[in-house]
Amino acid sequence: GTAAILAGGMSYEHDISVRSGRRVADALRRAGWRVLSFDTDRTLLDRLDKESPDAVVPLLHGAAGEDGALRAVLETLSLPYVGSSAVASRRAWNKAGAKDYLSAAGVPVAPSVTLHRQVFSDLGTPRLLEAAVDAIGLPLVVKPAAGGSAMGVNRVSSPEDLPSAMMATYSYCDEAMVERYLPGRDIAVTVADFGDGPEALPPVEIEPLSGTNDFAARYNPGATRWHAPARLDAEAAERVAKLAVDTHRALGLRDLSRVDLIVGDDGEVTVLEANIAPGMTETSLAPMAIEAAGLDFGEAWARLLDKAAG
Ligand code: DAL
Ligand code: MG
Repeated sequence: GTAAILAGGMSYEHDISVRSGRRVADALRRAGWRVLSFDTDRTLLDRLDKESPDAVVPLLHGAAGEDGALRAVLETLSLPYVGSSAVASRRAWNKAGAKDYLSAAGVPVAPSVTLHRQVFSDLGTPRLLEAAVDAIGLPLVVKPAAGGSAMGVNRVSSPEDLPSAMMATYSYCDEAMVERYLPGRDIAVTVADFGDGPEALPPVEIEPLSGTNDFAARYNPGATRWHAPARLDAEAAERVAKLAVDTHRALGLRDLSRVDLIVGDDGEVTVLEANIAPGMTETSLAPMAIEAAGLDFGEAWARLLDKAAG
């Protein structure tokens, strides 16, 4: 069959997406697919229409790729694609909104408050920030409510550092989420559905050598040590797997997602977010999980494509 990979896009994560696209394209070619690669520009729809691929693989990270906008267009054109629907993507893309769905499904999330840029520029700012610190406690993390690859994310340990952290976040997104910092281990669980329902692949543990899982740690080879599977006892491994599948279902996701969690120093497991277009680069977590599950990366993608193409 013919697969159309969409990669690049206009978000802050453009370069990451190009790397994801290249890796999946190579793997799918090895698995016997004819692969066309597209970036998003005004000619995209014409080209997709002309080629009429058997399935589209949207590997756009960040806004437009993960907020559902592009997927809504694919749905309008009745082009089958791998991954979550436009509506589900939008649900997961806003981390603050997603928490409502997760809490309602009994999935533990970190306490947070969300402040829009417009309220921040009002005169009431100092009082609002004081209230946020009172509600969430210190240390805390400020992050874009919608975003990826840890861009615009900062940990804050003292109240006077909060305003500049907020401004850093607002340069990426109009909504800043102020979230409790949970000390513990960073775990990522990839959820895949090859046709028999969503299943958790082996958890991957992220051990950033700098101590912080930031952009540099994620994408510079050698900056992070990964453990696949994660160094968890059987009970914790079962717990993260269950919560990842619960998260995937609670948000109505499809085919493939990566759920990021914290296994706290106190043993409590908390879900941070779900990613509907997880990175597929050489240092990304989902490919590690696929390999740790004993699956060939290209074969796994081929199975997802077969399912999408019907
Ligand atoms: N946002 C990046 C691509 C990830 O979640 O892997
Ligand atoms: Mg993310």
